[in-house]
Amino acid sequence: MNITLIATTAMGLESVLAREIKELGFSAAQSFNGKIEFQGNLEDICRANLWLRTAGRILIKVGEFKATTFDELYEKTRALPWGQWIEETAQFPISKVTSRKSTLFSKSDCQSIIKKAVVDSLKTYHKVSNLPETGAPFAIRLQIENDLVTLSLDTSGSGLNKRGYRSHMDLAPLRETLAAGLVLLSRWRPDKDVLFDPLCGSGTILIEAGLIAKNIAPGLNRQFVSEQWQIIPPELWAKARQEAQDSIIKENNFQIFGSDKSWRALEIAQKNTGLAGLTNFNYQKLNLNETSLPFSTGKIITNPPYGERMDDQEETEALYKEMGLHFKKEFAEWSYYVITPHDDFEKLFKAKSDKHRKLFNGAIQCWYYQFFA
Ligand SMILES: C[S@@+](CC[C@H](N)C(=O)[O-])C[C@H]1O[C@@H](n2cnc3c(N)ncnc32)[C@H](O)[C@@H]1O
Repeated sequence: MNITLIATTAMGLESVLAREIKELGFSAAQSFNGKIEFQGNLEDICRANLWLRTAGRILIKVGEFKATTFDELYEKTRALPWGQWIEETAQFPISKVTSRKSTLFSKSDCQSIIKKAVVDSLKTYHKVSNLPETGAPFAIRLQIENDLVTLSLDTSGSGLNKRGYRSHMDLAPLRETLAAGLVLLSRWRPDKDVLFDPLCGSGTILIEAGLIAKNIAPGLNRQFVSEQWQIIPPELWAKARQEAQDSIIKENNFQIFGSDKSWRALEIAQKNTGLAGLTNFNYQKLNLNETSLPFSTGKIITNPPYGERMDDQEETEALYKEMGLHFKKEFAEWSYYVITPHDDFEKLFKAKSDKHRKLFNGAIQCWYYQFFA
């Protein structure tokens, strides 16, 4: 069965996700704004969900067509092979509707038309007059862009950033998928480069690095909604999980250090690291200006405070200045990777980055400043 899969991601991470998809053995990945399309089979739904570190969700593309009228939207949606996926008893909410630069822009109208078309299509396919909608969920997504309608089914359920290792949510941590992206973009080599985050908070960057180092599939400790679908036999999930389990590198082949000025953050970081199944991390309570490591080279990847509130701005700017001075003194031959929305970061840090890339931390447009040793 040949299926078109769509992996979604945060804007700016498309090339990293494309690299991951290629490394997982898929070819001909096509990249759009925050989305990558590739071809796979049922087993690949399991593998993509388990393995793709920077993907937000894995969707099945059910169909794509041009539509400028509601009649066209209804007819073309109804003609798609919904019954092939959606079981007679399934729930099938229209979970997300987006419309950009298109004639059909009323989301609520599009939503009810899609629902009606899918209901009619399923009744015909399953030869029934009633659909109880009590079974497994098949969330439908509708995207209209320049009158091009894309309809897809969500195979992930909760977003793939939910790895199952987060014990607390109150520190505004970095999204796991973005943290993994920062590590992959830095081209960190676990067996060669020391890794340090001196403002580690709950440790997301370091934990994602640890998962990469040990080749632990990020989804290994969670469930996916499509595990409830009849069309994917449980053996396929079991096989993909077993393969992921067998791929784990047993020894700790990395040197990872984290520090923060906050005890509470460090407590959470320790706890999350354990929940992620990782050991041998070195956490210390230190102020940024007290940090030092006995290695001449390595990589610092960090997500400092952004100073979003007016009264925090001065403190944040002072921290960025201190960071520049301290890194150059204590970590002179290291590479640094810093994500912040601050346009003046380089001025405060007093160095011009070798590269900077636009990335989104949720809705916040940031820069990923990269300084190479
Ligand atoms: C945006 S948070 C990092 C969040 C982290 N990436 C995560 O995913 O949880 C910034 C962290 O910097 C720490 N911090 C701020 N100023 C510091 C300083 N001068 N020295 C050490 N840590 C500091 C804060 O305690 C906070 O945990």
